[in-house]
Amino acid sequence: MKTSASICALVAALGVSAKTYDVYRQAPQPQQRHRVMLAATAADAATNKAPESVRGGAWLTADDIGAAVGTIVVPQARMPTEGPTGNNQAGLYMASFWVGLGCADTADSPLLRAGVDIFWDGGMETYNAWHQWYPNPSTAFDVSAGNFSIVPGDRVRMGAVAPGEDGTPGLVRVENLSRGGEVRYEFAAGQGAGAAPCGTGAAWVVEDFTLAGLPDVPVALANFSSTTFEDAHALTAAKHARTISAKKARLFDISLQDQGGKLTSCSISGRKNVVCSRMVENP
Ligand SMILES: *[C@@H]1O[C@H](CO)[C@@H](O)[C@H](O)[C@H]1NC(C)=O
Ligand SMILES: *[C@@H]1O[C@H](CO)[C@@H](O)[C@H](O)[C@H]1NC(C)=O
Ligand SMILES: *[C@@H]1O[C@H](CO)[C@@H](O)[C@H](O)[C@H]1NC(C)=O
Repeated sequence: MKTSASICALVAALGVSAKTYDVYRQAPQPQQRHRVMLAATAADAATNKAPESVRGGAWLTADDIGAAVGTIVVPQARMPTEGPTGNNQAGLYMASFWVGLGCADTADSPLLRAGVDIFWDGGMETYNAWHQWYPNPSTAFDVSAGNFSIVPGDRVRMGAVAPGEDGTPGLVRVENLSRGGEVRYEFAAGQGAGAAPCGTGAAWVVEDFTLAGLPDVPVALANFSSTTFEDAHALTAAKHARTISAKKARLFDISLQDQGGKLTSCSISGRKNVVCSRMVENP
């Protein structure tokens, strides 16, 4: 059994820090709203212009979704070497990978999600796990037991389970499939700031968040090469849950003009893999 001392030693050996970042996971600020949208609008389609979007990945719509699951191998956070944000040795870069449940892919829709953030900060890397019942603020998973940490290369399964109509709590969880261990959080009935995820959407997403001090500017997106949400699927809420694969999900990409245009290329591979590659449209 790993002790917290041995995990600390491992983490130190890999150049990974335990620094915390105040990531802002709320709706875009008013000044940002006009240029960063979370999904394409008819107006964008009409002007044939790539909409600004802080999210890439896949959004599955189906009836009666009760849970969403996906597994990633945590990518190493790296400084991009291409594009307008590239090669800033003193810079901060981040990317966030999450799996969640929601209603609609819009900024204000409730979401129940679990995720992993990766940071590259002047050469130091940080990896951590968080959960959120949006619009409540996000919270870092409690890792004080000392038996959970994330390093690149770990295979982690993220999942969210909607609260049941019978009062069973909502659940978010990140599991370490490489070495065992998990962190989880249960939302007691009524704890989710009111609006529950409505049971019609499941998502596997890479997102470029902002920091609390600078809520209108997404952090420069880290280079995560190509990251796959393996076995991405939803489960129906019914007692004998049925699996719905992400195969028919709608795909979308991060696109931010200030960072070089389209920054991800996301696709579905096989029946259940959502693959997102870090790219830069205008190097
Ligand atoms: C990300 O890293 C890969 C592998 O080193 C490299 O080929 C690619 O050009 C990098 N992408 C960016 C945007 O810097
Ligand atoms: C997974 O377990 C290994 C071995 O116990 C540990 O070193 C690693 O930090 C863990 N990762 C997570 C995400 O818990
Ligand atoms: C980690 O610690 C928590 C709290 O002590 C415990 O419930 C959990 O089972 C532990 N997990 C592992 C993999 O040891």
